[in-house]
Amino acid sequence: MADRDRAVHRIPGILGDPGWTVCLVGEEQSGKLAQVTAGLRHRPDPAGGGKLITSGFSYWGLESTVAWAHACNDLYYPVMRESIGSFSRRWHAMGNALPDGPLHYVSLGPGTGQKDQALLRYLDSRGQSACYIPVDVSAEMLRLAQREALQHLHVPAGDVLPVQLDFSLPRNLDRLSTVIRRTVGDEPVLYSLLGNTLANFDSDSQLLALLADKLLRPQDRFLLEIANTADQSDAVARAAAQEYENSPRFREFVTSALMQYTDLRIDMNSLTYEGTVEDDRALKVKVIYHNRTGEQVELTLPDRSTVPFPDRDTIRLYLSRKYTQPGVEKMLAEARVVKAGQVHDTGHAAFDRPAFGMTLLLLQSTEAPRTPAGPDPFAASGPRA
Ligand SMILES: C[S@@+](CC[C@H](N)C(=O)[O-])C[C@H]1O[C@@H](n2cnc3c(N)ncnc32)[C@H](O)[C@@H]1O
Repeated sequence: MADRDRAVHRIPGILGDPGWTVCLVGEEQSGKLAQVTAGLRHRPDPAGGGKLITSGFSYWGLESTVAWAHACNDLYYPVMRESIGSFSRRWHAMGNALPDGPLHYVSLGPGTGQKDQALLRYLDSRGQSACYIPVDVSAEMLRLAQREALQHLHVPAGDVLPVQLDFSLPRNLDRLSTVIRRTVGDEPVLYSLLGNTLANFDSDSQLLALLADKLLRPQDRFLLEIANTADQSDAVARAAAQEYENSPRFREFVTSALMQYTDLRIDMNSLTYEGTVEDDRALKVKVIYHNRTGEQVELTLPDRSTVPFPDRDTIRLYLSRKYTQPGVEKMLAEARVVKAGQVHDTGHAAFDRPAFGMTLLLLQSTEAPRTPAGPDPFAASGPRA
């Protein structure tokens, strides 16, 4: 045991060679495979409500990570490209809403790491940087994110602690919370969930409430980035789905999980992008794969078992949303968090495209002493950042 401790203590020195990165793996990866296969065994449903690949698994693994990085740069996929490109400007527009002093940064789902770089630079410029803890279901994504986020920054290797973990599971959040508290003690933490990641989860409100409940202490802040919509007609919902449809790179990304976990021969023309209205809270976008071969296909899953994929059956590959103001307010109330800062960008409408924008919310627990949140962002009539 003593030898092992010594080996662990040597790691920060080894990390002086940028070819090495460390990663704390927080769960059994073989168990994750069982979860993917369970999603692919759901009952047949031509409407897209049966078989599915849930959020984390869309990004899990090398192929999906590379495909995601490509999609983020695709000119035809404005959602992520614009969200990444404008992040720094929108974050700076948040003003000085952070507490003073050192702030540890825990990034939930860092993706390509470009936004984390902007945040870490900001903290560095104010002399506030402390530990950087990116948390992702994908080890490959963590390595990519870490490289990008720390570029040109002099963060000591010993202050960087990537964690591979599915943060949508309550027991994982308990373990993550323990690691974070043991690392930072009582010092404040800035958490982030950016890039409209929340919208990828079926139970989005419950996930936000869970994250707030398990992680957020009165001294911490939570930066949430979500896509917004001012309108909720069927036509606008269809336009939301079209944002994904036009991108060849997004198509490659969204089918990459199918490529990894099944032996399905993928026909890109069998994808549909469906936009619907979800009560008064959001527009919902689903990307669905249809069996249009006219016959039943046997899918072989990673455990070598097979599952029938009947004619006209579907597999939901991706879920996203654009939230309305009442939808956001209700989620925040249910998660028992309040705004400490906000920047609402309504986006630009074009002749063929309604105005969809991004909202950045700096949240704090209702138990925390309140700091003023500024004017209601949704009252804004044009882009504001
Ligand atoms: C939509 S991307 C956002 C990336 C980045 N935050 C941005 O805004 O550019 C979602 C990120 O969350 C990660 N992710 C998705 N579901 C997850 C889960 N259940 N647990 C951990 N990470 C997850 C993905 O691997 C990916 O890095």
